[in-house]
Amino acid sequence: MGVSPSESVAAVDRGVGLPIPNGWYAVGVSDEVPPGALVSVRYFGREWVVFRTESGQAAVFAAHCPHLGAHFAYGGSVAGEILRCPFHGWEFATSGECRAIPYAKRIPPNARADTLPTVERNGFIFAWWDDGGREPWYEIREVPEAVDPNWSSPDRYEWTVRAHGQELGENGVDSAHFFHVHGTQNIPLTEATEDGAYRHAFSPIEMKTPRGAVKGGIDSRQSGLGFAATRFTGICETLELAVTTPIDADRVHVRYAFIQPRIDGKEPVGGVAGAIIKDIVKQMNEDVPIWENKSYLPRPTLCDGDGPIADFRRWCEQFYPQAG
Ligand code: FES
Ligand SMILES: [Fe+2]
Repeated sequence: MGVSPSESVAAVDRGVGLPIPNGWYAVGVSDEVPPGALVSVRYFGREWVVFRTESGQAAVFAAHCPHLGAHFAYGGSVAGEILRCPFHGWEFATSGECRAIPYAKRIPPNARADTLPTVERNGFIFAWWDDGGREPWYEIREVPEAVDPNWSSPDRYEWTVRAHGQELGENGVDSAHFFHVHGTQNIPLTEATEDGAYRHAFSPIEMKTPRGAVKGGIDSRQSGLGFAATRFTGICETLELAVTTPIDADRVHVRYAFIQPRIDGKEPVGGVAGAIIKDIVKQMNEDVPIWENKSYLPRPTLCDGDGPIADFRRWCEQFYPQAG
């Protein structure tokens, strides 16, 4: 097997000049970070630690201690409500404030860890990334089914994709690729509305089944570029919670969590329910090699059969550092 261009060609050579967009991004899955857990992650081109206190509060800190730069995740620990550094034992509250230094009489006033605003929603831990250090200016919309006991526990998938997140988002409005890449009918978008950081798109679809065609739809609601809830209706209602987090300017970590209504209180397994998820995952795997090797054209040559690609790109502009 030859070397794939994605391993050898830098982002800039592939024409990806887009910076890391601002917004809320998932940095962890809630139930994978139990009380007392401390994990190391790399997002937004930097190192971070995600931890959870005994009382259940999740927090995201820059990985290196403001004292002498030790990495919190290499020997550090969560004790009660504080994070303790492994190097000299300084103790930090979730706000980042240093609360105790075991060998000092006075705590220096600027002794605080760098933190990111953090919220937990829809089963994920989200951190707010803003290049200019601005406070969050939108919220991640709640998806009630994500915490509804009548819905299944999530079926999760994840990918690291060497591409910019905007390219992945653009896929949903690129109607013509559905036939060519995924072998499905072109998906016509009948309705797309925007409201600040939120975007809503609906596409009616018709699915062929042994018992004839069934009408359904794909309803997708985005909160910024980091979170989308997509509802597939028709044969078996399926909700896809998708999070896309920049690792750096050219790589994203994508997680899908699928939930479906329980049947008589039981998890839906196999059959049509499983087939829908399998097909969406298959489509993702078909898109990856296109994304990883394509070039980003700021001025593409579009035709009348293309979806609302220009509209989508205009909506994305608000998330870039220069937009504020
Ligand atoms: S480097 Fe963290 S306490 Fe010294
Ligand atoms: Fe696709």
